Amino acid sequence: MSFFVCTNCGFGSASWYGKCPNCNQWNTLKENQSFSEDKKGKRESVKKITITPLKKISAKSQSRKKTGIYEFDRVLGGGFVPGEVILLTGEPGVGKSTLLLQSLQHLKTLYISGEESAEQIKNRADRLLISLDNLFFSNDLQIEGIIEGAMEMKNSLDIVVIDSIQTVYSRNIDGSSGSINQLKEVTKQLITLAKQNNIIIIIIGHITKEGDIAGPKTLEHFVDCVLNFEGEKISHYRLLRATKNRFGPTDEIGIFEMKADGLHQIDNPLVFLEKNKNSKKFESGKSIVGVIEGKRPLFFEIQTLITKTTLPVARRVVKGIDYNKALLLLAVIRKYLNIPLDNFDIYVNVVGGVSVKSTAADLGFIASLLSSLRNIPVSEKTVFIGEVGLLGEVREVYLEDKIISEANRLGFTKIFSSKNITNVRELNQIIKNSSN
Ligand code: TYD
Ligand code: MG
Repeated sequence: MSFFVCTNCGFGSASWYGKCPNCNQWNTLKENQSFSEDKKGKRESVKKITITPLKKISAKSQSRKKTGIYEFDRVLGGGFVPGEVILLTGEPGVGKSTLLLQSLQHLKTLYISGEESAEQIKNRADRLLISLDNLFFSNDLQIEGIIEGAMEMKNSLDIVVIDSIQTVYSRNIDGSSGSINQLKEVTKQLITLAKQNNIIIIIIGHITKEGDIAGPKTLEHFVDCVLNFEGEKISHYRLLRATKNRFGPTDEIGIFEMKADGLHQIDNPLVFLEKNKNSKKFESGKSIVGVIEGKRPLFFEIQTLITKTTLPVARRVVKGIDYNKALLLLAVIRKYLNIPLDNFDIYVNVVGGVSVKSTAADLGFIASLLSSLRNIPVSEKTVFIGEVGLLGEVREVYLEDKIISEANRLGFTKIFSSKNITNVRELNQIIKNSSN
């Protein structure tokens, strides 16, 4: 019996198709020899595993290579570990190439780009006043060639950057660059290069808003660390998050601001609060939440707009917090506060174009919603810190005391958390009383 495998997506089938039923590419199904009849008799013999007592292994604590950009090093867990393979994802144009150019200038770097020419990179580096002493560049995109080039420099090389993985290809695979099989093969070869030579590899992968599941996301379990650079192009703020990290924490974030002269690090915990200089009045429909990101308290403004719907099914547009979490909290409000939200369109946004992952923002989200619904502003000196459970109860959050003391230090006068508020009904009362 023959077996056919798609060279683009890896889909397998016992019968041949002109068009792959999985990825819809034409003429990509090829017969796979390793599955054919005559191979069946030649199974590999049993290989007994080698067992090593872990006690006997002497683990060297590896010295990390720092970028010198504190916000970046913090997310990595104190710098790069030699031999580490990192996948840096983000939407096109968010600033991935800029971040790397700025942070790798002190490490000897081979920069492979299928996106920009050497002149473009040099112009940008000159404009950002980046030293070019350690930067080597190539536009060649065959992975076997890249590896040979890297091996030639390996004694002095710290880092190889692949910008982006979607543009690099292997001569061993038939599919075009960017196909799943190519992505996997190229990544596999890069991992071998990293582990055998202690070279750090950064693979850039473009991801669209929809998540592009078939793309770089499939590489996440191969690599040591997955960093996501996020932010809206219209806003200046960018967050760097580690969603996976074999050599460090996954809850730290790095905060940057994109300016005309590149990315700047931010350590002000209030940076995301809108500078409301012109108006003294605080409008209804917004509240400030205090959360912990990594070990650092940060404050965000959540805005909610509620209007009577004109549609048969009311709209929910949520940006900056998890959509399903928002639906869950709406259900809590509907049940425990008895508010018929089905007749209202609801729009939610976190100011600054960033997303808040912490559950500590639950209470503040409900506060902003009630504020919009009742048209009652909440004072800008008020901050909400708390997770809301399915029973409408307010729950203590991780490092709550740390957020509270930071809020005190920053001049918030009313701080609501699990310490002084037990459920959403009390919150409702607090919002109603804010009008006095
Ligand atoms: P870039 O690093 O090329 O994004 P990516 O590699 O993720 O595709 O950054 C592109 C955007 O950043 C571009 O739209 C312009 C903006 N930018 C600035 O605002 N200031 C700067 O100094 C630089 C270099 C870029
Ligand atoms: Mg780029």
